[in-house]
Amino acid sequence: MDDALDLLLHDARVVTCDGPDGAPLGVVERGAVGVRGGRVAWIGPAAEAPRAARRIDAGGRVLLPGLVDPHTHLVFAGSRVDELARRLGGEDYRAIAAAGGGIAATVRATRAASDEALFDAAAARALALRARGVTSVEIKSGYGLELAHELRSLAVARRLAREGIVRVTTSLLGAHAVPKERAGDRAGYLEEVATQMIPRAIEAGLADACDVYLDDGAFSRDEAARVLGAAKAAGLAVRAHVGQFADLGGAELAAELGARSADHLEQVSDAGLRAMAAAGVTAVLLPGAWRTLRQTPPDAARMRRLGVRVAVGTDCNPGTSPTVDLPLMAALAARDAGLELDECVLAITREAARAAGLAEAGRIRVGWPADLALFEEDDPRALAYALGGTMARAVVLGGAVVLGGLVEDEPPPRAPLW
Ligand code: NIG
Ligand code: FE
Repeated sequence: MDDALDLLLHDARVVTCDGPDGAPLGVVERGAVGVRGGRVAWIGPAAEAPRAARRIDAGGRVLLPGLVDPHTHLVFAGSRVDELARRLGGEDYRAIAAAGGGIAATVRATRAASDEALFDAAAARALALRARGVTSVEIKSGYGLELAHELRSLAVARRLAREGIVRVTTSLLGAHAVPKERAGDRAGYLEEVATQMIPRAIEAGLADACDVYLDDGAFSRDEAARVLGAAKAAGLAVRAHVGQFADLGGAELAAELGARSADHLEQVSDAGLRAMAAAGVTAVLLPGAWRTLRQTPPDAARMRRLGVRVAVGTDCNPGTSPTVDLPLMAALAARDAGLELDECVLAITREAARAAGLAEAGRIRVGWPADLALFEEDDPRALAYALGGTMARAVVLGGAVVLGGLVEDEPPPRAPLW
């Protein structure tokens, strides 16, 4: 039997994001990563690499684990550019939502879209994320707000994975808002989420986690506890949108429930952060949303001091964060929230995988799926240095080169942006 590798990416600055506490980036200079059967089979100095059927010369570029976007609302139809214009003209996000715009506007457009149109829109966004090095994406429902439509959105997310575009983990977000037709029946709608949507999504194999929008203008702590408690009892992982506008005790609830993550956190107390740290709940920072809403960003130094792990996501959605640029989000988390550059790299790789509950993503490790992203630059910190425009030079997903098949053993001309 031939024990040669299927693929070897060599002469890369390999950043495993799997180093020890003191040097978590785990850099291997002039390194190589070997792939066999879709998984990483070898990591080490290029000079010592075993034989491989196919060799790709990385030309000294930085090779990272495929990036992980831990928070997206990728499945939606319709633009809300008019709403942005209104907000820039002084109207308030929550006031627009209360008047039937906001999430409700996207619900109308999403329900009206055909299955194919909804899939095509989500696929375009997933491919755009992948072009920036992202190989794993957390995708929420939440623009269906009715059993069949919520299940349809989750099915679209699953299809992205089935078609080999990106790896996907899904979150049922039936409690994103009360749909317009149930406005007089808030409690009944929430019961439906807890007793119908959750079991049906599980039965259909469509949900990996359950999320709730716990905030002023959305759901209360008690309402969130009802839904997330039901999800947890049914065996789903839980997470929550918390403290985007007001601190309603969501961080503490996330800690009590052993949530994977609490996301946003512009408004959170020290006690809430301490509870999160003690329970191992990851904070997911969403710079696109705080930028669009022109809010004061969270303080990464405070989170670091209180021992909270931090990830960064795009929050890709048509209302508050219309972006697919995960490296730009890392760059903004550095500028606005004070995340250090090395932390930014970890925040969109291993910490993001942790927040999203992806057991074998976000690090380059022998035995794990070979999801890799090669960038033009030779310094991983460049990911959070550039203010937009960072694209992957090549992407490997499950061992297959899905983007940028470099010329074998011939380094292409280097043209770093930075
Ligand atoms: O993450 N916070 C809740 N949901 C989204 C916004 C949704 C929308 O406006 O469509 C967010 O910011
Ligand atoms: Fe969100």
